[in-house]
Amino acid sequence: MAYDAQHNDLEVLLDTETLARRVRELGAQISADYRGRPLRLVGILKGAWVFLADLIRHLDLELTVDFLCIASYANHSHPTGAVKITKDLDQSIEGLDVLVVEDILDTGDTFEYLRGLLEAHKPRSLKVVTLLDKPSRRVRPVQADYVGFTIADVFVVGYGLDYAQQYRNLPDVRVLRKSQ
Ligand code: IMP
Ligand code: MG
Repeated sequence: MAYDAQHNDLEVLLDTETLARRVRELGAQISADYRGRPLRLVGILKGAWVFLADLIRHLDLELTVDFLCIASYANHSHPTGAVKITKDLDQSIEGLDVLVVEDILDTGDTFEYLRGLLEAHKPRSLKVVTLLDKPSRRVRPVQADYVGFTIADVFVVGYGLDYAQQYRNLPDVRVLRKSQ
């Protein structure tokens, strides 16, 4: 079926105020939990960079940021289950407190793979914060340490999340329903 951005239905699920409030709360919680410990944030590109950009401005901590870019599936109904690194970390995470910043935890395939990869580099600790969590879709036994919002099994875009690389610039999170 042809994809036409113009005719898709986009219903707001999380508006800008709701997102901002929750990101502020997550920032306060993470700041309290890591107080006095330097933190390395690892943002997972591309979906997480908008969330990460907002989150770090609410982290009252000594921190550094690195990115991992992974290829993810573009179509909700055709998950590959396979994950590929397209940009590796720039700096070693050995001995560091690492917090992975994810856009969304869906089946758990991506984080299961990332966790193995990152743990092999021997961080002092490894936790994950995800903006969104879709636990009903989980096929791997993975859980985030910090969750922004738990959502139902719907496909969402905006605030960094894409459908076929589109819609990342929406300021809020919306449910995408494709036109027939
Ligand atoms: P998982 O490997 O199934 O947990 O999927 C994680 C990745 O799939 C995310 O980082 C997103 O790139 C993508 N993804 C899963 N659900 C959605 C969605 O509703 N909207 C946009 N991307 C999604
Ligand atoms: Mg992604």
